[in-house]
Amino acid sequence: MEKKVVLVTGANKGIGKEASKQLGKMGFKVFIGSRDLSRGQATAKELKADGIDADAVQLDVTSQSSVDAAMATIEKSAGKLDVLVNNAGIVTERTTALDTTEIAKVEETMQTNFFGPLRVTKSAQALLEKSKAPRVVNVSSTLGSLSTLSDPGSEFANFRILGYTCSKAALNMLTVVTAGAIKNVKVNSICPGYVATDINNNSGPRSVEQGAAIIVKMATLEEDGPTAGFFNDDGIIPW
Ligand SMILES: NC(=O)c1ccc[n+]([C@@H]2O[C@H](COP(=O)([O-])OP(=O)(O)OC[C@H]3O[C@@H](n4cnc5c(N)ncnc54)[C@H](OP(=O)(O)O)[C@@H]3O)[C@@H](O)[C@H]2O)c1
Repeated sequence: MEKKVVLVTGANKGIGKEASKQLGKMGFKVFIGSRDLSRGQATAKELKADGIDADAVQLDVTSQSSVDAAMATIEKSAGKLDVLVNNAGIVTERTTALDTTEIAKVEETMQTNFFGPLRVTKSAQALLEKSKAPRVVNVSSTLGSLSTLSDPGSEFANFRILGYTCSKAALNMLTVVTAGAIKNVKVNSICPGYVATDINNNSGPRSVEQGAAIIVKMATLEEDGPTAGFFNDDGIIPW
């Protein structure tokens, strides 16, 4: 059977690395997107030692030339892309106070968390359309849920970090919009839960294995699976 091909952005560590490992174990050819090529290569080497078909590609989601070069490499090497996981993400500020929020930090967050996936998905469209059943997984967050953050009784109500929340809400709209714009595709947003990684100084209670599971599930949806939705392990997250 023809090997399926996946690109994971920000795959040199954290949830992206674990999702790459789990998909690789399922038989995918994995492209490890990493803005620092040497760290991506180190991850690919580690996965290869585990029997996984993995290669690193330099990919900074904020750089159009880097994204286009990564797609050219994948086209040359694999000729198609079955799954794109838009995983790379950052948190640049932690304040929830409007008066101390720095616009430059909000812009930086939007560049990586929203314009990044937009740039990568747009550049990947032609390769995704060469797949028989393309899937796009946008790694979002419950903190991007308008309904959840506007509920004063929600456990997340105190996490109104401006840049991060807005970037993930915008990413969720990208999910809806691109689901109708790429031939045969299923595009979904997911939240991995609160996972211990560098993004939160390893404070989350969940493991990367637990966080990556919903990515893998949405990356391997069958034809009757959902599209243009927002999910975690428990099912649908309200927009
Ligand atoms: N951990 C959680 O509790 C949690 C909860 C909800 C959603 N998420 C989402 O899960 C995703 C993965 O985060 P994580 O928890 O695994 O954090 P992480 O360990 O900090 O990993 C983030 C990854 O994104 C990469 N990245 C950042 N900016 C990039 C850029 N411009 N171009 C390419 N790659 C870039 C990082 O690369 P470097 O190593 O070069 O920095 C790293 O590989 C993020 O989208 C995050 O918002 C996480």
